[in-house]
Amino acid sequence: MTGVFERFGALPDFPFRRLAAMLAERLPPDGVPVLDLSIGEPQHAPPALLAETVAAQAGTWNRYPPPGGTPAFRSAVAAWLQRRYALPEGMLDADRHVLPLAGTKEGLFLLPSVLPAKPDAAILLPNPLYAVYLGGAVLAGARPVPLATTAATGFLPDLDALDERLLEHTTAFFLCTPANPQGAVASQAYLERLLRLARRHDFLLIVDECYAEIWDEAPPAGGLQAAAATGGGLDHLVVLHSLSKRSNAAGLRSGFIAGDSDLLARFGRLRAYGAAVQPLPLMAAATRLWQDEVHVEANRAAYRAKLDLAERRLGNRFGFYRPAGGFFLWLDVGDGVAAARRLWSEAALKVLPGSFLTMGSVQPGLEDDPGARYIRLALVHDETTIDGAFDRLIEVLG
Ligand SMILES: Cc1ncc(COP(=O)(O)O)c(C=O)c1O
Repeated sequence: MTGVFERFGALPDFPFRRLAAMLAERLPPDGVPVLDLSIGEPQHAPPALLAETVAAQAGTWNRYPPPGGTPAFRSAVAAWLQRRYALPEGMLDADRHVLPLAGTKEGLFLLPSVLPAKPDAAILLPNPLYAVYLGGAVLAGARPVPLATTAATGFLPDLDALDERLLEHTTAFFLCTPANPQGAVASQAYLERLLRLARRHDFLLIVDECYAEIWDEAPPAGGLQAAAATGGGLDHLVVLHSLSKRSNAAGLRSGFIAGDSDLLARFGRLRAYGAAVQPLPLMAAATRLWQDEVHVEANRAAYRAKLDLAERRLGNRFGFYRPAGGFFLWLDVGDGVAAARRLWSEAALKVLPGSFLTMGSVQPGLEDDPGARYIRLALVHDETTIDGAFDRLIEVLG
């Protein structure tokens, strides 16, 4: 096996570094303030209880936080999951089925490194994807296999197209629902089918539910509901949730992983060696945030209003559709890289080309890059700012 650094050398730079390099080639127009819709960093204010709780816990900064988190954090999470997904009483044991993460990014990155081995191990990834899944698969020395998620597949991996032989080599399947970047949501039936496949072929189903609380019409189904419906406990399943988008707290670096107790035991062992651990005052704030839904409802309403605005302003331009979840627009502009360059150099508008979110460039032979025609816009600013961004978008791209 080649070294980690050599394997990483084969990857493109992380999408935002690539974007910075591309935009550095040209200057935006003089005197036009930059509008940045490229990154999914919420600009709504975090709830006051975050800072209040951190201040109230100042007496615990001297302590090393436990990598497994506090019992209060784990039980707040288990109680939230049970309420949110109407799980049967007793299905989740807060001590065996929940671990905190210093942001879900680190969990997604390290998880592939604790999977039981298989010969010629493959990790199946949606394409386009959150690039961290790819980095994690490569770190672990597994073969990343892209599953194109296009308009034709409903922007989710097509389960009918999976090759049985490939599944025998598969150690993990990453699913993102609501999907970043397209906002598609997997139904409970889809999740149940995928979980059955995971059990039949002995791979781990990793469901990234980072955007689960930002939804338009109906709350997205979750992996744990599929587990409740199929029986068999939490075997072969983990779900990951984050406070970054739900509570506008990306800087808190707080999320959790819940699911398969054997996998979590392995993961806990790995993390105890050196993973980032969340400080106690921050974990206390995270605990409070999982106990409060008022700020989450307000947040959701603010995103809905921005989707209304997008619908009014864009109509059916650029293949606009209203995403079922998340806060991204995935717009078909013909050539995403060319459009992103023009929006920057002609209107100081930063957006992410869809091809920076795909595995196109690391999978030679992949003919159709499913992101090539698209740009991704993050609706994270206030309505007035977003309205101004739509002005620029329409002026430049028509
Ligand atoms: C799909 C997806 N998953 C996970 C994350 C990581 O979130 P965090 O590490 O802030 O919890 C992001 C961040 O943008 C994301 O888009």
